[in-house]
Amino acid sequence: MTAHLRVLPLAARLFACLAALLMTAGMVQAGEKKVEIRTLKELIAKYSSKPCQKCHPEIYGQWEKSQHAKPLMGLGGDVFLARILKNGPLAIKDGHKATKENLICAKCHLPQLLGASDAVAAELASAILNGDTATLGQLNIGCPVCHQDKAVVHSRPERGVLYGSRDLPNHPGAPVKKSPLLKDPLVCGQCHGLGPVLEFEHPEQCATLYGSYLHAYIPSGGTQTCQDCHMKGKNHYLPPNFENRNETAALYRAALPLEVQALGYVFANGNGESVPKVVVKTRIANRAGHRIPDG
Ligand code: HEC
Ligand code: HEC
Ligand code: HEC
Ligand code: HEC
Ligand code: HEC
Repeated sequence: MTAHLRVLPLAARLFACLAALLMTAGMVQAGEKKVEIRTLKELIAKYSSKPCQKCHPEIYGQWEKSQHAKPLMGLGGDVFLARILKNGPLAIKDGHKATKENLICAKCHLPQLLGASDAVAAELASAILNGDTATLGQLNIGCPVCHQDKAVVHSRPERGVLYGSRDLPNHPGAPVKKSPLLKDPLVCGQCHGLGPVLEFEHPEQCATLYGSYLHAYIPSGGTQTCQDCHMKGKNHYLPPNFENRNETAALYRAALPLEVQALGYVFANGNGESVPKVVVKTRIANRAGHRIPDG
C-alpha cells in the first residue's frame, strides 16, 4: 500500500503545479543560451553509454541486451521508420530535406533528437532511408536519457549532472544528484504513453500503456510501480524481450494464467438420440499492471 500512497500524492502535486512549472521552464529556456547539437556524430557522442561501461559493467551488460538499446529497430533489425518516411503524411523523398517534423516518432524512440538541429534530423532521415543499421545501432535510450533528461520534470535537468537515488557529489565524470522521480512510474510514463500524441501537425499514436496503468491498475487498488515489476534488483534488462521467444513465452504464460474447466456429458433428447455435449469454462487473468498487449 505504501507504494500506492507514495505515487498518488506525487502525481497530484505534479499536475497541480504544471502551469507554474511550464512558466518557470520557459523562463529558464529564455535566459539560458541553448547549445544545439549540429551533427549526428555529436548526438551519438553526447548520449553514448560507453563511458559508463567501465565502472558499471553489470548494468551496462543488462541494458545492452534490452530493447532500450535499439529503439530505432524492431524485431530482427527491421528499420521500421523507413516505411514512415516513404509513405504517408510524414514521408519525404530526399532524406537531406527532412526536419524534426518528419521524425515525430523520436519523441519517445529517441527523445534527444528534439534538442538537436534540423540538420541532425536530416542526417538521421538519410541513414534511415539508406538502411544504415551501423549508425542507427548507435542511437539509443541509454544511461544519459534516463539518468539526465527524463529524471526531472519540475525543471530542466542541470547540465553536467547525473540523477540517481542519492547524492554522490564526487561521482567520477559528473556529480550524481538525488531525484525522487527515478523510482516513480512517471520516468517510464514519459515515453510509455498516455494515448494519442496530439501536439504534432500529423498526430499519431503508438504506446498507451502508462494510460492503462494510471486509469485501470491504480484505481483498482494496484500498488506496484513499473520499476517494482520490471526492474527487480535494479536489473536494466527490462523484459519482455521479444527477440527471445522462449523467454517471452514463459513470461506471458505466467502473466496471463489460463484456467480451464470442462464437463462432458451425453444428452438424451427424447427422440431416441444421444447428443454428446461439452461445457467449457475458461478464465484468463492478467497479472500485469496494465493491459496486454499494449497499443
Ligand atoms: C570511474 C568509474 C565510474 C564511471 C566512469 C561512472 N560511474 Fe557511476 N558510479 C561509480 C561509483 C563508484 C558509484 C557509487 C557506487 C556505490 O556506492 O554503490 C557510482 C554511482 C552511480 C549512480 C548512483 C547510484 C544510486 O545509488 O542511485 C548512478 C546513477 C551512476 N553511477 C550512473 C553513471 C552513469 C550514467 C555513468 C556514465 C555517464 C557513470 N555512472 C559512470 C563509478 C563510476
Ligand atoms: C508516446 C511515445 C511514442 C511515440 C510518439 C511513438 N512510439 Fe513507438 N513505441 C513506444 C514505446 C514505449 C514502445 C515499446 C513498448 C510497447 O510497445 O508498449 C514502442 C514500440 C514501437 C514499435 C515496436 C518495436 C519493435 O521492437 O518491434 C514500433 C514498430 C513503433 N513503436 C513505431 C513507432 C512509429 C513509426 C512512431 C511514429 C509514427 C512511433 N512508434 C511513435 C513509444 C512511442
Ligand atoms: C530506461 C531508463 C534507464 C536507463 C536507459 C538506464 N537506467 Fe539506470 N536506473 C533507472 C531507474 C528507473 C533506476 C532506479 C530503479 C529503482 O530504484 O527501482 C536506475 C538505477 C540505476 C543505478 C542505481 C543502482 C542501485 O544499486 O541503486 C545505477 C548505478 C544505474 N541505474 C546506472 C545506469 C547505467 C550505467 C545505465 C546505462 C548503461 C543506465 N543506468 C541506464 C533507469 C534507467
Ligand atoms: C525515452 C523513452 C523511454 C523511457 C524513459 C522508457 N522507455 Fe521503455 N521503451 C521505450 C521504447 C521506444 C521501447 C521499444 C524499443 C523497441 O523495441 O524498438 C521500450 C521498450 C521497453 C520494454 C520492452 C518491451 C517492448 O515492447 O519493447 C519494457 C519492458 C520497457 N520499455 C519498460 C520501461 C520501464 C519500466 C521504464 C521506466 C523505468 C521505461 N521503459 C522507460 C521508450 C522508453
Ligand atoms: C504488477 C506488475 C507490473 C506493473 C506495475 C507494470 N508491469 Fe509491465 N508487465 C508486467 C508483466 C507481468 C508483463 C508481461 C511480460 C513480462 O512478464 O515481462 C508486462 C509487460 C509489459 C510490456 C510489454 C507490453 C506488451 O505489449 O506485451 C511493457 C512495455 C511494460 N510492461 C511496461 C511497463 C511500464 C512502463 C509500467 C509502468 C507504467 C509497467 N509495465 C507496470 C507487469 C507489470
